[in-house]
Amino acid sequence: MTDPVIAARHAFLCERIRSHNQAYYVLNHPEISDREYDALVQELRELETAAPELVTPASPTQQVGAPLPEVTRFEKVTRAVPMLSLDNLYDPEDLRKFEKTLRTFLRESDEKNDVFKGELGYLVEPKIDGISIECIYEQGRLKRAVTRGDGVTGENVTANVLAIGRVPGTLSEPIDITVRGEIFLNYSDFRTLNDRRLAEGLEPLVNPRNAVGGAIHQLELQKKAVKAARQMSLFDAEAPIEDKKNPISEMNLSAVFYEVPSDHLRSTQRENLLFLEKLGFSVPAEPTEAASVEEILEVIERWDRRRAGLDFPMDGLVIKVNRTELWKLLGRTAKSPRWAVAFKFEAERALTRLISVDAQVGRTGIITPVANVEPVFVGGTTVARASLHNWAFIRVRKLRIGDMVFIEKKGEIIPQIVGVDGTRPRGESIVAPPASCPSCASELVRDPLEITKPKLNELRKRMKDEFPSVPGDAGDIEFEEAAKTGELKEAFLTCPNEEGCKAQITERIIHFVSRNALNIDQLGEMIVTRLVEAGFIRSPFDLYGLREDQLITIEGFAGKSVSQLLAAIKKSRETTLARFIFAIGINGVGAVNARFLAGHFGTLEKFVDFAKSERIVREQEVKNISGIGDKLQAEIVEYFKRAWVVRMLEDFRGLGLEFSDTGSGQKPLLGKVFCITGKLGKHRTEYVARIQELGGVTRVSPTEKCDYFVTGERPTPKKVVEYERLINEKKSDIKRLGEAELVRLLEGEEI
Ligand code: IVH
Repeated sequence: MTDPVIAARHAFLCERIRSHNQAYYVLNHPEISDREYDALVQELRELETAAPELVTPASPTQQVGAPLPEVTRFEKVTRAVPMLSLDNLYDPEDLRKFEKTLRTFLRESDEKNDVFKGELGYLVEPKIDGISIECIYEQGRLKRAVTRGDGVTGENVTANVLAIGRVPGTLSEPIDITVRGEIFLNYSDFRTLNDRRLAEGLEPLVNPRNAVGGAIHQLELQKKAVKAARQMSLFDAEAPIEDKKNPISEMNLSAVFYEVPSDHLRSTQRENLLFLEKLGFSVPAEPTEAASVEEILEVIERWDRRRAGLDFPMDGLVIKVNRTELWKLLGRTAKSPRWAVAFKFEAERALTRLISVDAQVGRTGIITPVANVEPVFVGGTTVARASLHNWAFIRVRKLRIGDMVFIEKKGEIIPQIVGVDGTRPRGESIVAPPASCPSCASELVRDPLEITKPKLNELRKRMKDEFPSVPGDAGDIEFEEAAKTGELKEAFLTCPNEEGCKAQITERIIHFVSRNALNIDQLGEMIVTRLVEAGFIRSPFDLYGLREDQLITIEGFAGKSVSQLLAAIKKSRETTLARFIFAIGINGVGAVNARFLAGHFGTLEKFVDFAKSERIVREQEVKNISGIGDKLQAEIVEYFKRAWVVRMLEDFRGLGLEFSDTGSGQKPLLGKVFCITGKLGKHRTEYVARIQELGGVTRVSPTEKCDYFVTGERPTPKKVVEYERLINEKKSDIKRLGEAELVRLLEGEEI
């Protein structure tokens, strides 16, 4: 039997990785760096090597990408040849191991050694950081473009891709071919886009990849194309789109292609690229041949030196065995081909001077230090502000204004200060945490909880990861001393004035209208800040009472934008319960967990009833929510002790929100009771969430009230016996379903 500690860690890692997959592939909004992500996957692999019985098709080690959201707005397309991913390497040693494995594998699979002959040559291509795409051409014309999705099933985004000037609509030859590549946005175009957004009062986008993801998932063009195609009675959405001036064409997206299907393979990858170019595709810049690991490392070094000055987003290099004959011998694993590997660059790092430290109030009242630095170019953008983690780190590192600090863009998202250059002259004044809230002047609460041992360990680990000591810095010793004297309590400072602090209110509303929440694009940070300052809104609910005569007094508003904003606020009432729950900002509940909560409660009424109920009732109820772990359960119970939150929810209940994920019209499984046992292809929580979305409920064991008993591989014998007893005693006529039947039922078929 598997050690329960290992099994628990395995389950934990699976859940974390799945959630990060969702953030990266579906939301295009990664929460951790690639390196941190790979470390989680590596740990999972090691566990599975030690305990192979834990490997199931549902394990993230066996899957590419993330499942598409159940209610995707694009047509789903299932492909015969899955889109694979690549294994990541980070240092020369890994690369040597990679070559060794190749050799062993080739020697074994090519016994007579008449193909391999001991020769290995590589082609090294830049790894473009964009969104991967598959384009299907018939008779040389683009018929269909499909996103990666979970590798097998992607989304049909043809019309949007057709609008990208750099993806050819017609090839130089009238052939049938399916090619794969990457859509991306150059840094210069990304900056132009964000400048324009800022000028329009919109929030800037976090990174080029996120901008591309948003663009190819925008619905307007796709809808127009489907309409035009219907009018012309075409099957595919390839009807011409009239207005040339559309948001996608204006973004100036780029695309490169690097993969041809097996029936079009040339003898080397170099020739594959030449072939693609001849057809009219752009290919990755400067593919370079290398005969050995040493030569690969030289190529990597050359690119690394140029990296800061490049205009295209590149996060590493892809190293491919050049001869395609060898690809067939090497084959693939569940996730990636064996003939290629990605070598990822370290996060870019820059050195600059610390000018000042602001205390920033978050939506939950936590006060975090944010550094203002002398502007420095790193990871494709100019950085003038960077995160400083928490106050204890500053104290332990004895950070001073004027110090030279290292800045990194972790996961190329938010810049962070990762260390102080202790070899340079240090600055003057020590940075001290604030005594009162910079927004409302309330006295701050210094972590009301004692710093417990696990918390201390977590801090110690974060300190090592996020703020490592650098030459000339005695950080670690000081950390241990600070831990002893209790100074670390200052790590967590909170403003307790939840209802009255304007900074907290502003942040809460910014979250409420953000993209994955109620998505009111017209309400940028600046406008929200001004509305709160003017005293017009004190909670997200107040948005729905805003009047024209109030808005007109806000700086930067013209007549047209006032009516547009009011219309957008009105429209935001049509949303989903999942988005609404995410929007209210329960601590620890992100977009994915919000879906579980929405699936569980089903309606706003039930959700509000829960929020209003006694603590003990809430404690009982959260235990029934599938997909939510113990720690988060406790957070959720705790969150609703706030009278102001409950009042706000009551107000929303009276407002009349329209949810497309609730209501009996959308709930073909309303009242149906399911019991699922055994291993399924997808993680059970995904099925449970979908059943709940459609109005059904799930039970751990079969009972008389069950309608469906779903069995996967190796169902729990006790449950099967119970099911058979119920059937034999004619207590109930529960239908028994396999996974395929369950899928059909969830897709709306009668079973
Ligand atoms: S080859 C079988 N070449 O990186 C997979 N991929 O992390 C073949 N990517 O899925 C992929 N530049 O989306 C290849 N020059 C390049 C690439 C590249 C970017 C992307 C691609 C891939 C991902 C793996």
